[in-house]
Order: sequence, then C-alpha cells, then structure tokens
Amino acid sequence: MTDIQSLAERIDKVWADEEAADLGPVFVKQALDLLDAGEVRVAEKRGGQWVVNEWVKKAVLLHFRFTNNREMTAGPIEWFDKVGLKTGWEQARVRSVPTAIARYGSFIEPDAVLMPCYVNIGARVGSGTMIDTWSTVGSCAQVGKNCHISGGVGIGGVLEPLQANPVIIEDDVFLGARSEVAEGVIVEEGAVLAMGCFLAQSTKVYSVPEGRVIEPGRIPARSVCVPGSLASKDGSHHTYAIIIKKQRDAKTDARTALTSILREGPAVASE
Ligand SMILES: CC(C)(COP(=O)(O)OP(=O)(O)OC[C@H]1O[C@@H](n2cnc3c(N)ncnc32)[C@H](O)[C@@H]1OP(=O)(O)O)[C@@H](O)C(=O)NCCC(=O)NCCS
Repeated sequence: MTDIQSLAERIDKVWADEEAADLGPVFVKQALDLLDAGEVRVAEKRGGQWVVNEWVKKAVLLHFRFTNNREMTAGPIEWFDKVGLKTGWEQARVRSVPTAIARYGSFIEPDAVLMPCYVNIGARVGSGTMIDTWSTVGSCAQVGKNCHISGGVGIGGVLEPLQANPVIIEDDVFLGARSEVAEGVIVEEGAVLAMGCFLAQSTKVYSVPEGRVIEPGRIPARSVCVPGSLASKDGSHHTYAIIIKKQRDAKTDARTALTSILREGPAVASE
C-alpha cells in the first residue's frame, strides 16, 4: 500500500471519529501539505472521467474543524483566518502579481500567471493558465492548462456534500469576463464562454448546431457559448440560457488569444 493510500485510509478514519483524537490534526496536516505541493488533488481525470478523491475533500473540511483562527501578516497587511497563504512563488515558477491571493492547500502549476485574483483551498490551476484580475477560483475547482480565465470571472467552490463534483474547467478553455460557472459544471477542452455567461447545473444549454437543448451541467469541447434565453413551453416567458452558437474556429482563436504574449516565456529568469 502506498503512503498516500494509507494516509487516505487514515483520513477516512479521522472523518468517522475512529482515530485517536490527537492524530487527526497530524494526518490532516500531512494531507494538506500534499495538496499544497500538488502531489494529490481533489479531482482527476481517470479513463476519460472526472473522479473526486473524497478523502482529500474530507481533509480540507477537517482542517476547519481542527484549526483555530490566527493572526497573519504580510508587511503592514493583516488577516485573521484558519488557512494561511501559499508561499514560495519563485520556486514554484508562478508569476503572481501583488494582491493575488492563493490559500495554502491550493496548487498552481509552473508557468501559470495569477493577476490580482483569489484561489481558494483545494483548487488547482494548470500550467500556462492566466487567472485575470478580480476572478475567483473557488474551493476545489480544477482549472486545466493554457486556459484564460478573464477579469471578474467566478468559478464556484464546491466542498460539500463530499461526493459533489467540483467545477472543472478543462485545458485550453476561455471564460469571458464576468462569467460564472458553479455547482460542479464541467467545461470541456477548448470551449469558449463569451463574456457574461452564467452556468449552473440547472441552466438550460441550447446547441444551435444540434438544434436542441442538450444535457445540462456540461459544455461540450470547443463549443462557443453566448448568453441568451429560451421560451417556456407555454410561451408565457423566457428563461436565461446558454446558447452554443458554433464550434470554435480560427476567428474565435484570434479573439481569445488576447493574453498569449503575456503568458509566454519562463516565469523566472534562467541561469
Ligand atoms: C465569444 C467571442 C470570443 C466571439 O467569438 P467568435 O468566434 O468571434 O464569434 P462570432 O463573432 O463569430 O459570433 C458567433 C455568433 O455568436 C454571437 N456572439 C458572439 N459574441 C457574443 C456575445 N458576447 N454576446 C452575444 N452574442 C455573441 C454573434 O452575434 C454570432 O451570432 P450569429 O451566429 O447569430 O450571427 C467574443 O464575443 C467574446 O465574448 N470575447 C471575450 C471578451 C472578453 O471577455 N475579454 C476578456 C476581458 S478580461
């Protein structure tokens, strides 16, 4: 059994109150250190499916049970909280602009760029991705590689219930300014959301190419989505909906490449 497997079992026991009281915080700290180092993650794609590692979510929740608030400072700035901040940006090869905040227990892959944004515990941001100004990556959300998460975007956090999927933004996705994705929605590879798209599990998604309302909760790969509305069956009203207009094409690529130069090049100077 690997160390990680046995730690997972221990966290399950702590969760079920079957472990010695003094050991719980020790195992939870070990789990959060692994999460913070990117060695375990809340959700991962296995055999083409996103699978939630419930024990990791349990560890995150247990941290709040076991930890008291404490004062934290950064120069003249102070906080009072249960979770500290991530440190070691240069070593991690991540460019992070002042006032970007990533909490301990999140993981940012090398060569990602954090503008002044907020990344919560359990979240993961892939290499080459830019999280633009005032956007938030909620707890446990998984953002893939080479994404552009535009200004003011909200990616919802999902901690409870344990089996609930976090929001998943796959590789090469573009989320337009002020969009919001919540409730464990999956945005598949290369999809584009225009600015101001709001997406939760119940949001209807209409595909123009397919000429029908598709399954909610998932945006198919390379779809170009815009905000719109759909008429109710009796025609009495319209409800907000996401409209898939087309598949991503060269024109979309040109319009969404707005920060590719800013994201190029190494995060730290080479020797
Ligand atoms: C989605 C976007 C990338 C356009 O992609 P595109 O491939 O060039 O899209 P097109 O111009 O070919 O438009 C395709 C269709 O979608 C519609 N559409 C495109 N963008 C739209 C928008 N933002 N709102 C509503 N409809 C939109 C077009 O009117 C067109 O409709 P039609 O087929 O009925 O004529 C662009 O609208 C967008 O939102 N850019 C992001 C801006 C942004 O957030 N920047 C970041 C700032 S930090």
